[in-house]
Formats: sequence, structure tokens, C-alpha cells
Amino acid sequence: MKGIVLAGGKGTRLYPMTKAVSKQILPLYDKPMIYYSISTLLLAGIKEILIISTPRDLPMFKELLGDGSRIGVKFEYAEQKEARGLAEAFVIGEDFIGDDDVCLILGDNIFFGNGMTTILNEAQKNLDGAVIFGYQVADPKSYGVVEFDESGHVLSLEEKPDNPKSNYAIPGLYFFNNDVINISKQVQPSGRGELEITSINIEYMKQHKLDVKILPRGIAWLDTGTTKNLLEASSFVQTVQTRQNLYVGCLEEIAYRRGFIDAEQLLTLGQELHKTDYGQYLISLAKGVIQ
Ligand code: G1P
Repeated sequence: MKGIVLAGGKGTRLYPMTKAVSKQILPLYDKPMIYYSISTLLLAGIKEILIISTPRDLPMFKELLGDGSRIGVKFEYAEQKEARGLAEAFVIGEDFIGDDDVCLILGDNIFFGNGMTTILNEAQKNLDGAVIFGYQVADPKSYGVVEFDESGHVLSLEEKPDNPKSNYAIPGLYFFNNDVINISKQVQPSGRGELEITSINIEYMKQHKLDVKILPRGIAWLDTGTTKNLLEASSFVQTVQTRQNLYVGCLEEIAYRRGFIDAEQLLTLGQELHKTDYGQYLISLAKGVIQ
């Protein structure tokens, strides 16, 4: 399974904050936003990750993340020249994906909660089509929306409907088999002129190969679409981290716990950042002070 993080777009809804920098590089409490989506891929056990961004922003992500070897993974990079839509990720990533299955996560989607690793493992098991998720929200209008019957059978999928048929939004986390490359090439631009991920999901639905898993209430799916959301997401991370002294979205920690790097490598990474709480946290983990 390969992973793709899509961190493109102009971020116009967060102007002027994002006029000169990528939205996905903005801080979410104590780390860049993209850390959280990468952490979800690492928790899914995915070690080969393609980061797609704009020609302007890609160099910044390269500087931030490098080739991944420091945390025992492999990062590759590709440009999305115009904001043509999410479905283009699989055309851009065709060579990177090769013959594998692929998980796409949007660089501004944050997942946290007990059981997330199990959910990610289940989604990959015997993947024969697509697995997407449904998450109950108060107002689903600004998302993809999924409607299903009592037995969990999908009835409809709509992108940003004016009159949503359910309260279940589709988070920006998708597992696809290799067919997604060919399907994405057939996608036509929507009314708003974008190659929609929802069009790909509809195609899988037509082929009876779309599985929607409901994320339970114990999982937090956080939004960073507005400045208010961004602040709330930061506060959430701060609250969890301060209370438990366990970090959310800490790439080095996940790499260590997953066995991608050993305690000695983790200690080195921590010492480089020793002036920060983040660095001290890594040092405590490496020394076994925090279990
Ligand atoms: C995109 C997708 C939408 C999905 C959302 C999740 O919307 O098109 O289906 O629900 O991400 O964050 P966008 O953020 O591009 O408006």
C-alpha cells in the first residue's frame, strides 16, 4: 500500500494567512498541519508516501520533511501545477503507485482517537475496490455527503449538496485498489470545474465496489477550513497533549513505536530539538521516561 498526501490548493478561505504560504504548513498548535495527515498514514503502516503540492509550496515541504530516511520512511514529491481537483492525484501519482493499492489523505485532515489504528488496518484488509468513511457532523453541506440504508448499503454520494440527504460527511481519507488510476483518468470536471474525488467514489459505487465505514464518535475528525476551525483544532491538540503528556501527530514517535527507527535514532532527533518541548518529549520517549 502506497500513500499520497495532497497538500495543494490556494487556501483562499484562510487569506491573508495563506496568501504567501501553503495552508498545510501552517502551525496546528505545535507542529505543521501536514504532520497530522502523515501521522495517519504512518499509523496505517504506510512507509512510501508521495507528497503533492503546488510548484510554489513543494520546496517548503521538501525542506520540512526531506527524504524521510531520518524516520525510516520514504517521502517523494510531485507538483500539481493547477488546482484541478483531488482526483488528479492519481494521474500525477501514477508512476509512484505502480501496481499497488493506494491511500489518499488530504493534508488538512486530522484524525485522532482510540481505535484509529484498528480502523486503518481493517480498511486495508482484502481491499477489493474502495473504502471510504462516513462521519456524522452538524452541517455536512461543505463536504462530500454519503447516504446509506439501514444495512449500510450506499444509496447516494454527493459533493457539497445544498440539501444533504444525510448528516454523514466523507472525510478526506480514502483507500483504493489500483483501478483508481484508470478511473481517475475518466473523471470529467464538475460544475465548479474540479476533478472531484466524489466522482471516483461514484464510479466505485456503480461497480458495487465501494465500502463506507462509519467512524465512531470516539474518533475526532477535525476541520481546518476556517480560522475558527483552525484555532479550535489547535486547542484540541493542546488540551490532549497537556493533559496526558502524549503527543498527537508526532511523526518521530509513531516511527519509533512502529519500529521504523530505534531508541538511539529517536534520541538523536530529540537532541536536535532539545530547546523545545517537542524535542524534550522525544528524548523522554527514547529514554523510556514516557512509555
Ligand atoms: C474535499 C472533498 C470532499 C471531502 C472534504 C474533506 O473538499 O471534495 O468530498 O468531504 O475534502 O475534507 P474540499 O476540502 O476540497 O472542499
